Formats: sequence, C-alpha cells, structure tokens
Amino acid sequence: MTPERLDVEDALPRMQALSSRLWTPEARHHPGQLAWSAAYGEPDVLDLGPVFAADDAWAWLESRDWLEVCGTDPASVEAVVAAALEEADDEVHASTLETETAVVQVLGAAGFGEVELPWFTHHLLDLADLPPVSLPEAYAVRAVAPGEHEERAAVHRAAWSATSRVTGTAYRRLMATPPYRPGTDHVVIAPDGAWVASCCVWLDEETGVALVEPVGCVEEHRRLGLATAASVSALTAARELGATQGLVCPRGDDDYPAPARLYQGIGFRPGARTRTWRLSRGSR
Ligand SMILES: CC(C)(COP(=O)(O)OP(=O)(O)OC[C@H]1O[C@@H](n2cnc3c(N)ncnc32)[C@H](O)[C@@H]1OP(=O)(O)O)[C@@H](O)C(=O)NCCC(=O)NCCS
Repeated sequence: MTPERLDVEDALPRMQALSSRLWTPEARHHPGQLAWSAAYGEPDVLDLGPVFAADDAWAWLESRDWLEVCGTDPASVEAVVAAALEEADDEVHASTLETETAVVQVLGAAGFGEVELPWFTHHLLDLADLPPVSLPEAYAVRAVAPGEHEERAAVHRAAWSATSRVTGTAYRRLMATPPYRPGTDHVVIAPDGAWVASCCVWLDEETGVALVEPVGCVEEHRRLGLATAASVSALTAARELGATQGLVCPRGDDDYPAPARLYQGIGFRPGARTRTWRLSRGSR
C-alpha cells in the first residue's frame, strides 16, 4: 500500500471525512480542528507540510518537525507514518490522544519516545445540558456576518497576541473552509460597540459533535463571563443546527489552567489527554 502524497489544501476534505468516520471521544481529530489548523494563518506564513493519505489513515507533516496522524488500522497507519518520516526533519514530534492505541503503537515501533511538553485534555459536554446565555448589562452577543473577517480577526488577535497569525486575509479564507459557518462563530459586543470576546464553534454534521476552537476575550473585559457567554451562545446555535455533543481541548497541565476552568464552568467534563512523542534520528 503506497500512500498518496498531497498538499494539505487538496487533502483537507479527505482528512476531515476520515476523522469524522473514525470519531469517538477517544480520537484526536475533528474536522473543525483540521480546518482551523490548515487555515488560521496565510499559507506562506504557516508553511504547512504535505499529507500522506491511504484509504483508512493519513499522516500530516503540519511542519517538517511536527506530525499529526489519524487512523485505527495498524497496517494503514504504519504505511502513512513511514511515508511521512521520509520527508520529516531528523528530529520530529507527534501528538496523539493517549487512547489512540494503533497510532501510539506505530509511533513506538518507529522509534518515537514520550516527552514532557504542555498537554491538552479533551473535554465533552452533552449539549442538552447547556446553560442559558448570561451577559452583563449592556453587552450583546451575536453571530458574525459574512464579510466581517477583518473585525473578527481583530478581536481574536486582541485577545491572543498582536503577533498572532490570524490576519483578516487569513480569516476570510478560514470562513470559506468547511465546516465553518458564520452562524456558529459568535462575538460579544461591549456597550461602546467594540468587539471584545469571541468563540468559533465547528459543527460536524456527520457526528453531531460541535468543537469549540478558539475562544478569546480582550484583557480589559476579562472575568465578566464574556468568554463563557460567547461559547454558550455559539454552542446553542450549533445545537439548533443539530449538534448533540460539545468538544473542547484546553491545556491540561498546571501551567495554564484558566481555559479548562472556563469550560468546566459551562459543564464540560474532562476525558482523554494528549501525549507528545519525539523521534530523534541524528543526521541521516
Ligand atoms: C481564557 C480567556 C478566554 C477567559 O476569558 P474571560 O472572558 O475572562 O472568561 P470568563 O469571564 O467567562 O471566565 C469564566 C471562568 O473561567 C475561569 N477563568 C477565567 N480566567 C481565569 C484566570 N485568569 N485565572 C483563573 N481562572 C480563570 C474562572 O473559573 C472564571 O470564572 P470566575 O470569573 O467566576 O472565577 C481569556 O483570558 C483569554 O482570551 N485568554 C487568552 C486566549 C486563551 O487562552 N483562550 C482560551 C484557549 S482554549
């Protein structure tokens, strides 16, 4: 079995379809996360590497030193990982959920060992249990409208960092990347009209899983419940479109606990965590 080598732009629909088909709470990839990872910045800035795809697995060099893998069939996973390693740097990392046994076994057999790096815990929520949207007086929350990519990118950057790669041009492209929908991308507006918090939710119609990615609130308006309101509002919109389960993947290590607290405050409960693996081959 020789995997096909593809640019991520061409491979994305196929990668998303497989992640959707193989979805369980114990699988790492969601179509919305893949869309975000492939399109959150402008292509020449992200400099994303190739995808190696077989029918039942893919391996993506998100960069030459970072490998993402999807699949449950050991032979298919082995084939795509081997193909990707042909083009990877001598030192390459990979991240998996701890529950992805086929991928973990294949990486181990290829010489990867576990390393201690910041990790993430998948959190899940039955959307029947969503709380109502609650906002401080004079704030409002609404969906982004088509064409508002500049404002939307700006509120993301203001919450994250001025050096964020999320430019207006990048966000316009993201908004054209399925399964993005403006109706599940929500912003909070302050009494003076400024956009101050945001949450994008990605609905996978095949599985009914609505992924929260990303969330932000500008510093001057924090601890008012605005990130919570944006998230609950966007998830409520996803539920109206048929979503049944919410998913979010905040840091799980102790160095950055705020986002996990925020999502647990909404009702999300922790599931499996990520583990990071490294292969160091010296110069070949
Ligand atoms: C994390 C972030 C989104 C929180 O935004 P926010 O509007 O202040 O969040 P909320 O007011 O809705 O907070 C809800 C709960 O989250 C937790 N929380 C939020 N910020 C926290 C912090 N700095 N320290 C500890 N807990 C925090 C608290 O439990 C809080 O409830 P409380 O205020 O009643 O104690 C914001 O700080 C941010 O944009 N940070 C940079 C981007 C980021 O990390 N995004 C999330 C990545 S998954």
